[in-house]
Amino acid sequence: MIPVIQVIPVIPAILVTPVILVTLVTLVTLVIPVIPATPMIQTNQTTLTIQTIRVILTSLMNLATLIPAIPMTRAIPAIRATQTVAVIVPTQNLQILTAHLMTVLLTTDFKTTENPPATGDFFCRKKLKFVIALTKLRLICPASGSALDSQLVLPHQKAYIRREGIMYDAPKLNLTKSMAEFEHGKTCTPGGVLGIRRPYNFVEGEYPIYFDHGKGGRITDIDGNEYLDYLCAYGPIIIGHREEEIDNAAIDQMRNKGFCFSLTQPIQNQLAVKLKNLIKCAEMTVFVKTGSDATTLATRVARGYTGRNKIMRCGYHGWHDWCVEVKGGVPAKLYEDVYEFHYNHLEQLEDLMKQHGDQTAAIIVTPIGHPLAEQVEYPKPGFLEGVRALADKYGAVLIFDEIRSGFRVHIGGAQTLFGVTPDLSTFGKAMANGYPIGACVGKAQFMKKIEKEVFISSTFFPNSLEFVAALKTIEMLERDKVLDVIKAKGEWFNAELGKVLAKHKVSTGASPVPQMPFVTFNKDESKTYKAKRVDFYTQLIRRKVFLQPYHHGYICYRHTDEDLKYTLKAIDESLSFVDEKKY
Ligand SMILES: Cc1ncc(COP(=O)(O)O)c(C=O)c1O
Repeated sequence: MIPVIQVIPVIPAILVTPVILVTLVTLVTLVIPVIPATPMIQTNQTTLTIQTIRVILTSLMNLATLIPAIPMTRAIPAIRATQTVAVIVPTQNLQILTAHLMTVLLTTDFKTTENPPATGDFFCRKKLKFVIALTKLRLICPASGSALDSQLVLPHQKAYIRREGIMYDAPKLNLTKSMAEFEHGKTCTPGGVLGIRRPYNFVEGEYPIYFDHGKGGRITDIDGNEYLDYLCAYGPIIIGHREEEIDNAAIDQMRNKGFCFSLTQPIQNQLAVKLKNLIKCAEMTVFVKTGSDATTLATRVARGYTGRNKIMRCGYHGWHDWCVEVKGGVPAKLYEDVYEFHYNHLEQLEDLMKQHGDQTAAIIVTPIGHPLAEQVEYPKPGFLEGVRALADKYGAVLIFDEIRSGFRVHIGGAQTLFGVTPDLSTFGKAMANGYPIGACVGKAQFMKKIEKEVFISSTFFPNSLEFVAALKTIEMLERDKVLDVIKAKGEWFNAELGKVLAKHKVSTGASPVPQMPFVTFNKDESKTYKAKRVDFYTQLIRRKVFLQPYHHGYICYRHTDEDLKYTLKAIDESLSFVDEKKY
């Protein structure tokens, strides 16, 4: 049985009759300001110090704020009780909860018992688990911060809170429908859902598996839980979910023109010209539907152009044969010419190029480093320039994979931000706010290889719905200075996050890239960082903040300042949980 916090009430029943309450509240309002605050004096139930009187009066005032929300029939027997009762607030209203929380913390001794509270006491008639959840919740004092830091909480009360680990443990989410749907999904789709969306990539049993809808910076799962969405569909949602302007433009195209034809609609040229005007290396463009299409296309162009086979890669570039991380089903000869180096480790690339430079067709690198489960990195001074120089030295094509950085860190991509121009570059994700599009852009001398020797074609590549969405998205990005706004929000968030992380014992890291926030857990010798990471992200998702434990997040335009503040508070509390827990 789960232990229950019990409260020894100190308030006689007679005080709760409405008339006396009103009198009391008036009295309290007049008396409290003149009672001096004194340091907490350890009390027992019979000795009343000035501090205790002050506390009781404050508590009564708090109780008075509760009365309107509680049917008197329930309130009276509870308060009349002279025996030990569990005082549980029959509400999820945070204000009422907080008021009562203070009452509980300030006036009572805690004891644990194996017995649930007797019916008829002052408590909500839900399951015991729910009662406990509320009990835990009320021990989080939004106003006063940690009860563990409060002088008003007695040492043995603090010990109790610590021992039970209840201080910051938020209630588990109801995910019944997600779980049931997943069981169903597994019968008709291998693994239920695909790849990185599988539950083991989050915290199993704690994160939802299916979403129902989204709007702006929020998403709602099929159980009705609404979250702040910081994964943004793994990057495409740069403005927000269900952007009317973009959706309306796509709907207009659907209704008035159509989008899937055997010949190409001229809007393709419009978008290609737009990219040419924005992105340094984008003299020509080929549009595809995914990021993997775009990176594969770029490497094929490089091989076609140079007549060489080898590729030096750095970062995730998609699921196609040449670069997929899990090699099952892929003949070795399809990736045996592909070599990996680590981001910001120019010396590794130098070594590789010394060995294979004359056979290297392309160096493909993400201009911002974002390895899975590790911290996001900006390029060290000279890194991208060094990569450019090595490509030039050995006659290899330099490809920047800007699938994540494009239309996010700068309207002209990271290549504009860092002032290093590649030969080819790939874009996708944020380019059309969720509509499926990828683009390989590049200098004409390379791209022209696609005219004859290199073949690229797909039934759906010219579908125009995505072109419409991309043009509208880019129009909004420019018109509303969306990327500047996101950067400013991210910078503020990161600065505040730094302060939050510094407050806590647990050793963490944060992404330096304001558009891509991420809290990582530093490896420790005892390897507790993994458990801490699981606990932290569990607490975070329970507080309805949707961030991925192993992948950086994204800030979108529709995230409000309030959203960001709430998220910081949730991170703070979740780290407190980790701080308090013994590993
Ligand atoms: C840097 C990078 N390149 C390529 C890809 C592949 O894109 P897609 O998943 O659209 O095929 C991704 C996807 O996350 C990516 O992050």
